[in-house]
Amino acid sequence: MFNLLKKINYKPEPFEFYSADLLWTDEHTVQKMLSYHLNDAIEASSRGSTFIDKSVDWICSYFKVSNETQIADFGCGPGLYSQRLSAKGANVTGIDFSKNSLEYAKKQALENNLSINYVYANYLDYELTDKYDLICLIFCDYCALSPAQRAILLKKFRSMLKPNGKVLLDVHSLNMFTILEEKASYEFNYLDNFWSADDYYCFINNFKYEDQKVGLDKYTIIERDTIKVVYNWLQYFNPTALEKEFIEAGFTNMKLFKNVAGEDYDESHTEFAIVAE
Ligand SMILES: C[S@@+](CC[C@H](N)C(=O)[O-])C[C@H]1O[C@@H](n2cnc3c(N)ncnc32)[C@H](O)[C@@H]1O
Repeated sequence: MFNLLKKINYKPEPFEFYSADLLWTDEHTVQKMLSYHLNDAIEASSRGSTFIDKSVDWICSYFKVSNETQIADFGCGPGLYSQRLSAKGANVTGIDFSKNSLEYAKKQALENNLSINYVYANYLDYELTDKYDLICLIFCDYCALSPAQRAILLKKFRSMLKPNGKVLLDVHSLNMFTILEEKASYEFNYLDNFWSADDYYCFINNFKYEDQKVGLDKYTIIERDTIKVVYNWLQYFNPTALEKEFIEAGFTNMKLFKNVAGEDYDESHTEFAIVAE
């Protein structure tokens, strides 16, 4: 018991473990995730539809989207952006490693007579050979990646862009980091059986890495016969740190916004978005 509690409360090195697949591809949690994506009242997996409509309108106008425009939507989930962008005439490729979300996305595309190329893949490994005018990574997914993974992804983006092609992504700001607190708790069947249909105890350890500006929500899920640990890392950025990563990957002409709906950059906000060429 003592040793188990020690393991549960162990604070790993920043990004020591990557378990995004447990969060996004586990057979049970994917069902829960999809329901969150599609529930306007829960902004846990996607933003609400009013915001997404506004965001897509801005993307189409800012990037002058036409039926010549090739867009890659990384981490497209159930296709909430892909579908809207395709309806506006863009040629869209959506990449995701949640089979469940992609199945939903494909069904929606079929029902709405939209031709969208959905690719089932881990975007950190997968090589897309086509070239794009715009690559999106929306809902702060960039923050879940380690510095090494982010460098790989930006290099990949750069190789996939047409001349003058652009990347649009959003991140958590340091305003969010400041209010983080280290704490530990546990709960029976935490989040309404989010982690399993069977009974479990979930230990929740929130860790903060002051120097690296990283936060970790570590979940230790203890069922009758199994234990699994899920690490939800988040890197928090100030504009200079984010721009530095883009510059190192060979991008230029960075522009900051409050969000992916193109509102003016607001330094007091908990997130911000970047466009880089
Ligand atoms: C927070 S959701 C955002 C979905 C969508 N961009 C939106 O805003 O509605 C993150 C999505 O990225 C996917 N994802 C996370 N890491 C991934 C990876 N390494 N490869 C492919 N998909 C990934 C998840 O399956 C999930 O659908």
